[in-house]
Amino acid sequence: MPITHRLTLTQYLIQERRRYPNSKGEFNALILDVALACKAIARTVAFGELAGVLGNHSADDGDKTINVQGEVQKKLDVMSNNYFIHLNEWGGHLAGMASEEEELPYQIPAQYPRGKYLLVFDPLDGSSNIDVNVSIGSIFSILRAPEDAIASGRDLVEADFFQPGVKQVAAGYALYGPTTMLILTLGNGVSGFTLDPTVGEFMQTHPSIKIPEDTNEFAINASNSRFWEYPIKRYVDECLAGKTGARGRDFNMRWIASMVAEAHRIMMRGGVFLYPRDNKDPNMAGRLRLLYEANPMGFLIEQAGGRASTGSEPILNVQPTGLHQRIGFVFGSKNEVERIERYHAEPVPKKDDINPLFAERSLFRD
Ligand code: F6P
Repeated sequence: MPITHRLTLTQYLIQERRRYPNSKGEFNALILDVALACKAIARTVAFGELAGVLGNHSADDGDKTINVQGEVQKKLDVMSNNYFIHLNEWGGHLAGMASEEEELPYQIPAQYPRGKYLLVFDPLDGSSNIDVNVSIGSIFSILRAPEDAIASGRDLVEADFFQPGVKQVAAGYALYGPTTMLILTLGNGVSGFTLDPTVGEFMQTHPSIKIPEDTNEFAINASNSRFWEYPIKRYVDECLAGKTGARGRDFNMRWIASMVAEAHRIMMRGGVFLYPRDNKDPNMAGRLRLLYEANPMGFLIEQAGGRASTGSEPILNVQPTGLHQRIGFVFGSKNEVERIERYHAEPVPKKDDINPLFAERSLFRD
């Protein structure tokens, strides 16, 4: 299709802005800076080992570096974080940023003006897939800075970012797969863009993404099954039982280990993703991070007609208490997520009444 038959990301943003006659265009400029960071990451990822960007990042002393999560940093984690920071710090639209790779809020350097938005991001999600050439992504969330921070231009503190997901102004992800895509919500549905590398533009290819309400596909890291709580065990057990079980139909399972790639599959054809709270590590309430993984993905999923939950309550209602806080996260086709929430609300049966599949010699024993 000729390029003129599709909207570019810039044209889409201008079209959306016309609905808000008082807007000054700052927000659009911010989204375009984020998109530029994603294009820079896409280009870097595409060259892989040719550009020497695979493998672990090393400090000046040659040792591998560890981020605030205690995870070994990949070269691409560090490069992607730098792209996000340096392409967004200068524009004058941001009061500050928070990143998976930065322990504390990133303050806009003194030589640049400060603006009214907060940018929160995971610069490269799915790090374990970098070296094996499997899809990875970036996730971002945009919030308004507190009024006093906007008025005074003061440095930000962690608590400025502790806003529930319902407060997000925009959210999106970039998927670095066979094609590079940007999936975006400005709070008025979800629009998808594919990077045309010949002109360097994101072109609108998926104008109004809608997640089917029903699905036969689920995604979970089943190696954690012995740590799951009962409602999750019950749900997965019923999916596995297929036609012969309570659900009366067969399910299929997928696990890519890149949340962005799983979310994209769900955006395109439905499905349910679960990384629930479990009892593997008492210090971790879940695996995924609330502010820059669950909240932006939750906003996108709900805007596409799906549902995003902790398992028990809407993810977007959770009041954050930490910049790098982890949480149980379940999202996707509405009817499945609601079913999982129902299972969490029901009383846990006494041990003796539990389905034999969870009994002593079963696959999913406690
Ligand atoms: O950091 C989050 C993440 O990489 C997600 O993208 C992915 O869904 C998950 O971790 C993979 O977890 P696991 O290593 O348990 O499969």
